[in-house]
Formats: sequence, C-alpha cells, structure tokens
Amino acid sequence: MDFELKSLSPTQAAQLSADALLVLVPDTAAPGKAAGGALQELVASATKLGDLDAGVAKQLACYRPVGIKAPRVVLVRVGDGSAASVRKAVGAGMGSLKQPGIKKLGLVLSLFDANDDAVRAAVQTCADATYTYTTTKPSAKARTVQQVVVGVENAAAVRGGFETGRALVTGVEFAKEWANRPANHATPTMLAEAARKLGRKPGLKVDVLGPKQVEALGMGSFLAVAKGSAEPLRFIVLHYNGAAKTSAPVVLVGKGITFDTGGISIKPAAEMDEMKFDMGGAASVLGTFAALAELKPAINVVGLIPSCENMPDGMAVKPGDVVTSMSGQTIEILNTDAEGRLILCDALTYAARFKPHSVIDIATLTGACVIALGGVRSGLFSTRDDLAQALQKAGDTAQDLCWRLPLDDEYAEGLKSNFADMGNVAGRAGGAITAAKFLQKFTAELPWAHLDIAGTAWKSGAAKGSTGRPVPLLLQYLIDQAAAVAPKKAPRTRKA
Ligand code: BES
Ligand code: MN
Ligand code: ZN
Repeated sequence: MDFELKSLSPTQAAQLSADALLVLVPDTAAPGKAAGGALQELVASATKLGDLDAGVAKQLACYRPVGIKAPRVVLVRVGDGSAASVRKAVGAGMGSLKQPGIKKLGLVLSLFDANDDAVRAAVQTCADATYTYTTTKPSAKARTVQQVVVGVENAAAVRGGFETGRALVTGVEFAKEWANRPANHATPTMLAEAARKLGRKPGLKVDVLGPKQVEALGMGSFLAVAKGSAEPLRFIVLHYNGAAKTSAPVVLVGKGITFDTGGISIKPAAEMDEMKFDMGGAASVLGTFAALAELKPAINVVGLIPSCENMPDGMAVKPGDVVTSMSGQTIEILNTDAEGRLILCDALTYAARFKPHSVIDIATLTGACVIALGGVRSGLFSTRDDLAQALQKAGDTAQDLCWRLPLDDEYAEGLKSNFADMGNVAGRAGGAITAAKFLQKFTAELPWAHLDIAGTAWKSGAAKGSTGRPVPLLLQYLIDQAAAVAPKKAPRTRKA
C-alpha cells in the first residue's frame, strides 16, 4: 500500500482526482458554517438535513456530489479529532470503501486540526482495515486500495506522525504475516530465515544460533522444551544500531513457540490450531525491527528470539523432570505446557550481556491473562515504576493499550519445589502474575518489564487472525527513548 502526504485545503481536496474520498468531519463542523467550498457545503447540507449526526464513526455515503471530482465521497464523524476518534472513524469509513473499483483513495483530514497522532492513527487504521493474508490462500481477494493520499491543511507540521505511521504499517504487517502463517509454514528455521533476510536492510544485523551453540551457552531450560520436536530450535539475535556504540541498548525478547501442543501435558483439541499464534511475541519483535529499519530512530536495540515447537514425543521433557537453566538455577518442570517461561528465562539471562538500558519481554504467556484483561489491553509487569510508566504512556499514544499488574513477592510462594530451585507452575490462582514472578527470578538487577499479549496478539472466531500487536506500543516506546537521550539542539537565540 502506497501512502502519500499532501497539503490540501478543503477546496483542493474537492479537486483531488481519486476513486473515492473518505472525509473526516469534526463535531465542530456545525450546520450553516459552510465556508463556501464544495466539501464544506456538502457537510453543511448533510448536517442541516439531519443525515449526518454528531458522534464518532457516524457516516454518510454520497455519489457524484456537486463540485467534487471524486465519484464517491464518504463523510464520517471524527468527534474531537483525537487519535482514538480517528481510529474509530477511519475503521468504520473503510468498511464501505473496499470495492474493487476503489484503487486510489483520498483520506481527507483537512476539515480539522489533525496533529501527528491523528495522522499516524489514520494511516495505521487505513492499512489495518484493508490488510488481507494471502500466503497460504492466494485465492483471497488481495487488497483493493493501492494508493492513499492523506490530505491535511499543513503537511510539514505532521510529517513526523505520517512517517511513523508508514513505518508502523510495515512493522505491523510483517508481524501479522508471520503470526498468521500456519506452523508448517513458519517453523523456527523459517522464522530465522525471515529474520536473516530482514537483517540485510541497512542498520540491521542478524545472527542465528542453532542447537549446538545453545547447548554450549548452557540454556538447559530452552533445550528441554525443544527436545520433543523434530524441528531444530533457533535462537535469533537482531541488532539495530541507530546511536553511538556507547549508548546502552533496549533489549526486546520475544516468545517464539511456533506451535504449542502443550507437550506431554497436552492441550485439549478444541481451538488448538490457535497455538500457531504462540510466536506472536517473536513476530512483534521482528515487526518492530522492520519498522526501525524504515524509521531509523537514534537508539540501539537488540532483539532476542528463542524459537522452537512444544511437542509430545518419546524424546520430550516429562512432568517432574529437573533442568538447569543458563542462570544456574534448577527448574522442576511440573507442567510441560508452561513452556513459554522456560524458553524466555534463558533468553533473559542472555540479555544481561548487553548491559541493557531496559529489557522487555513480549509473550503469549498465559490463558489467565486472557481471563483477566480480555483482548483490549495487554498485561504489563515491571519491577521499575519509570519503565512501567513509559510503556503505559507509549501504549496510550500509539492506541495499543496495556495495563499494569502487580508483582508482590507473596505471588511467588507457589513456585517453591522440593526437588529444584523452583517449579515452573504455581496453581491456577493469579496465573498471569505467577508466570511473571517466574520470569522475574531471571532478571536479577535488570530494569525489566514483561508484556503478556495472550489476549491481544490475535483475534479468534470469524475474524481469526493476528493483530500485529504490540508493535505500535514497542515502536512508540523506542521513539520516546530516542527523543529522551538525543542531544538537544541548542535553542535558537535571536538578537534583540
Ligand atoms: N501459549 C500458552 C498460553 C495461552 C493460552 C495463550 C491460551 C493464549 C491462549 C502457554 O504456553 C500456556 O499453555 N500456558 C498455560 C500455563 C499453565 C500450564 C500454568 C496456561 O495458560 O494454561
Ligand atoms: Mn503452553
Ligand atoms: Zn505457549
């Protein structure tokens, strides 16, 4: 999808040659306020006749309106013009603009004071609404809208938001593609190949470790999960260098279970297919790197992806087996279905070697988090208030929400074991929190945060598919960090 940003007054927007216009109308555009242009007159008439009520996402489709070049015009209410309203409005408006005849679309934001966040949300939602997965279903109707002209009053003022939006689309669609692929089209080896290919972009570097190297590192916990599968594990290490070598990197760790059967503690058959999405954390890390390569912010980022299948087999790890993690701590594997934490713990130990500014792991970790927060907000855990606040704020800005859950030490009680330093499960109560407490045992003094995306990484039912979350949150966090450490430009002083 090709996006272009243009300065368009409402009068110029009316003259734009496109197959359709999607015009965002603020609530402040009251009846009788027409400033003469064809677009404003159309809005004024529609409002006056009572066909376009105020209220976000209310819409009206018009054909060949007088004085407007595009044959189709959809007016949609955008309320106060905030990013959240833009998201709802564009999402609703795009629903009536997916006909094959619409190849070039004008997305008109010129009737209100659209800021960076609003423009970013418009680009992102427009792409989201038209995305189609085709890799293993070539017969699916490919995206019809090819070209989108985003019109605003002053393009220069919102160029940043627009470029962020474009990079986000690249990142989110990269994540969706890999998460949507069935497990036989996204093995650990294939995921590593995709990462390697991504690593050819300027600014990126990718290394892939196999079973021998992972064994040499002493990652006994990760190895235990991979043992039951014929597919060899991969440990993917990505680097994005946008700042000085001395600048401490942010480390992103993504759970890359390409299929989770549960192992010997096998899952029930119903909906087990959805466990192909159990590499959603890994997909979001890859997507974030794809976006970084485009946006090139001044920051260093390391990505770590432990990837394998969780399968039952003669070689598989058994309940009660005790393994030694890379940290030296021993783990009694009481439930082989709590495998995400077993691969993440070794990656978190590995993360320390980068002397990171912060470490954030992203994982479809627990069904309990789905019960707690549903599909609206990801679960956020952190030992550091400043880090938690920065992530929460990034999520708010990017419209990719999360919610902080507690880490009181009492929650770790159930992880005690008579046969190892810890067990890998602690009963049903507070399952998302006890999983986070397990991970915390491997983060020592690191500024660490954990995002449980079990409820937000994909949708079930008729709309089954990856959401690409939390790429928007992660990219926004990295942009905010880059801005915080960037050398401030000397303030321009004017001589009197
Ligand atoms: N990948 C699952 C978590 C999951 C389940 C995500 C359902 C989304 C929907 C994870 O590996 C898992 O199986 N977790 C167990 C942990 C339990 C055994 C302590 C769970 O949540 O049931
Ligand atoms: Mn599992
Ligand atoms: Zn899992």
